[in-house]
Amino acid sequence: MLVDKLGFSRVNLTDLPTPFEEAPRFSKALGGPRIFLKRDDTTTLAMGGNKARKLELLMGEAVSLGSDHVITTGGPQSNHARMTAAAGRKLGMQPVLVLEGEDPCVRQGNLLLDHILGAEIIFSGARPPEEVMAEVKEDLEKRGKRPYLIPLGGSNALGALGYVSCVEEMNRQAEEAGVRPRAVYVATGSSGTLAGLVLGKILTGASFEVKGVAVSPGAAEKEGRAVELVFEAIQLIRSRLEDSPGPGALDPDHAAMLERIRDASLEKVRRHVAVIDGFVGPGYGIPTPECLEAITLLARNEGVLADPVYSGKALSALVADARTGKYARDDVVVFLHTGGVPADFAYSDVFVKGRI
Ligand SMILES: Cc1ncc(COP(=O)(O)O)c(C=O)c1O
Repeated sequence: MLVDKLGFSRVNLTDLPTPFEEAPRFSKALGGPRIFLKRDDTTTLAMGGNKARKLELLMGEAVSLGSDHVITTGGPQSNHARMTAAAGRKLGMQPVLVLEGEDPCVRQGNLLLDHILGAEIIFSGARPPEEVMAEVKEDLEKRGKRPYLIPLGGSNALGALGYVSCVEEMNRQAEEAGVRPRAVYVATGSSGTLAGLVLGKILTGASFEVKGVAVSPGAAEKEGRAVELVFEAIQLIRSRLEDSPGPGALDPDHAAMLERIRDASLEKVRRHVAVIDGFVGPGYGIPTPECLEAITLLARNEGVLADPVYSGKALSALVADARTGKYARDDVVVFLHTGGVPADFAYSDVFVKGRI
């Protein structure tokens, strides 16, 4: 994997590669195209999800700095917070979660898992969580501790680099399956996963389109953030190259990857980034009827679960595109399943009583 070859510190938090499997009944129920699932929901860290790949690099840096606490933020049902708490525990660091808003009091879904993992949980109330995180960090430092701070969603350039490996895996798995994906759909919040996929696509010269599906308002901002992250990650790779033996020490495939980013510019990166609006509904964390239908369609045809905050909304975009005839029957489309299923337990009324 390229990122390892460049000497980034990485810790092992999950088994890779994740499966790449066809969903023939789901495809049939939609009348095509052929749909493959890239199962990042199956990463083996505390019920899985996309954050494992980002955390392998972020926590790698935390370990190399000798950190003893890891601080991050998210909503009360944040998958990122839950997985960061688990990663902290696995590496012997105390997790501190600054969760947005007021304490919902009920411990369910991800919040229950945060509790079981023994994370210190602080609700930011009316204050910006970033401000509270900075305070917590300063306070710990004053007490002689060594906290490591991870931004919302683990979405900085280092975290985004974690998704390059996903594209490397997917390219190989698609080749083994004898298919050439036209598009990859992914739920997009803080844009790090999308950015990593786009970077992986650019580095490997893959031909698929990456379709970020906004799960909260602000598709244009998400697009802009993804472009910035891709560009920053490219700078990070370049700075690594300057410190390391250089492309000559890499195998030809990896050297070819680096050649593809030699003259990268924001303008060139922008051409590869697209965030689809229109599947958010009333807001972040508020399920839409289309998302619930997509979740049940996948569950009842393939036995694969999704969630109403992230993966279900991305899936609803794929379902809509399939139904409006965007693809031919034998086109191949990938759904990058980013996980999020623990949140389902916090939405039982929505699934059982249909209360949206
Ligand atoms: C299950 C799930 N899918 C997708 C995403 C979106 O990833 P990103 O924040 O990198 O855009 C998240 C982020 O928290 C998530 O938890």
